[in-house]
Amino acid sequence: MKGIILAGGLGTRLYPLTKSISKQILPVYDKPMIYYPLSVLMLAGIKEILIISTPRDLPMYEDLLQDGSQLGIKLSYEIQNKPKGLAQAFILGEEFIGNDSVSLILGDNIFYGFDFINKIEKASHLRDGALIFGYEVDSPREFGVVEFDENYRVVSIEEKPKNPKSNYIVPGLYFYDNNVIEIAKNINPSERGELEITSINNEYLAKGKLSVELLSKDTIWLDTGNYNALRKASNLVYKMQTEKNINIGCIEEVAYNKGYINGDKLIKLAESYKKTSYYNQLLKLISNK
Ligand code: TTP
Repeated sequence: MKGIILAGGLGTRLYPLTKSISKQILPVYDKPMIYYPLSVLMLAGIKEILIISTPRDLPMYEDLLQDGSQLGIKLSYEIQNKPKGLAQAFILGEEFIGNDSVSLILGDNIFYGFDFINKIEKASHLRDGALIFGYEVDSPREFGVVEFDENYRVVSIEEKPKNPKSNYIVPGLYFYDNNVIEIAKNINPSERGELEITSINNEYLAKGKLSVELLSKDTIWLDTGNYNALRKASNLVYKMQTEKNINIGCIEEVAYNKGYINGDKLIKLAESYKKTSYYNQLLKLISNK
């Protein structure tokens, strides 16, 4: 399975913070935001990843993450000229995806949880159909809302509904078989002029090929698209790392634990962070082994 990170968009809900810089490069405590979705795809075991961003911002991500070989993975980059919707990722990524299945993660979504890691590792073996997740929230109106029956079969998905049919929203992580490319090419833009991910999910639903997995209450999910959510995310990562000794979004740690890089390579990566607590955290991984 291949992976795509969507790291473009306008980020207008964070203005003026994002007026001249990409949202996904902003700090979430001690790392750029994009580290978090990247770590999720890596935790799922996905090693070939495409990063999509604006013509203005893409060079910054290339500079930050290079070709991924330092982490034992393979990164490629693609421009999205205008934010024409999440589903455009599969059209822009057609060549990259080739004949594989693919996972899409939004660059401003943060996930964490042991149960969650098991679920995404399993999802990375998907070959047929589509898999989305359901996450319970108090105010679902701003999101894609999933309704399901007593057997957890999806009944409907609605984008930003006025009267949500459930409290379960669809977070920004999706797994699809290779048909997603053709489906993306054939959906129509919505009223707001975007190729919606909900339209893709509804196509799979109509064919009886859409599954939903509910994320447990222990799973952390945050969309960092506005001031408060961004601050909440930073606070949470700070608390987990300093009080519980659990690193979130640490791509070097994931690469090391997955065996993509050895201890020597980890030390080499850590050395460029010598003046930080990040450095100490990385060294601790080796001494704890
Ligand atoms: P959104 O939060 O829907 O859009 P945005 O980031 O432009 O923010 P705002 O609403 O404040 O203007 O996007 C969700 C994620 O998907 C975010 O990480 C940006 C990314 N994205 C793209 O890369 N391309 C797109 O065409 C769209 C719609 C979003």
